[in-house]
Amino acid sequence: MARRKYIVGNWKMNGLLAALGEAAAIFAAAKDHAGVDVALCPPFTLIRPMIAAVPGAAVGGQDCHAAASGAFTGSVAAPMLADIGATLTIVGHSERREGFGESDADVQAKAEAALGAGLDVILCVGEPREVRESGEAVDYVLAQIAGSLPADFDAARLAIAYEPIWAIGTGLVPTVGDVAAMHGAIRAKLAEQAGEGAARTMRILYGGSVNGDNAAELLGAGDVDGALVGGASLTAVKFVPIIAAGAAL
Ligand code: 13P
Repeated sequence: MARRKYIVGNWKMNGLLAALGEAAAIFAAAKDHAGVDVALCPPFTLIRPMIAAVPGAAVGGQDCHAAASGAFTGSVAAPMLADIGATLTIVGHSERREGFGESDADVQAKAEAALGAGLDVILCVGEPREVRESGEAVDYVLAQIAGSLPADFDAARLAIAYEPIWAIGTGLVPTVGDVAAMHGAIRAKLAEQAGEGAARTMRILYGGSVNGDNAAELLGAGDVDGALVGGASLTAVKFVPIIAAGAAL
């Protein structure tokens, strides 16, 4: 069965209650593109209000703790996300790997906790600029997969997001050929690590400066099953064209 395109907005640390209107407009427009799965990952504070404003919408976290509860001031556990109606969470975003020192083992533990709580997972990988320039990007990303993919999982519930760090928020994007090569290498690694069936099922998203102008080209690249979008997911006027580009493929 063909993999459905998956277009996910990561709002990062952006959005007050006043932004719920944008989410409502985004999910309303998504209904016109029924062949594409659309999700938004707002800050923790907006998850519950967003679900209340748009019942049935796929709304998720941007991170979760690996433990189910405990003395971890400021953290949110996967069962807490599920409890308020979230259906997914991102783990391993480079802004957490780099900014909060998360290791592959930490990311793996978070992914396993999220799956165990019934959440779908988007597990992020991606290389820094110097690694891309040294020609080691594929090896770097495959090592991240080796270290952070859960040992056992339902392939339909775990997606990989390839986000080259140097492309995030910069307006720089890899060539379509480089994206296709990386995604192909990731799928081959998934086949080796999780089996051919899992690799055929799993969606691999591209993230990093996706916008309405480049979405069709990036989403059309080989082995690209969707997009993880930062800045251009904050408003319907910018995000809906990306959803439409996914639906047109
Ligand atoms: P931008 O789309 O703003 O480059 O962010 C990408 C990203 O980090 C999504 O998780």
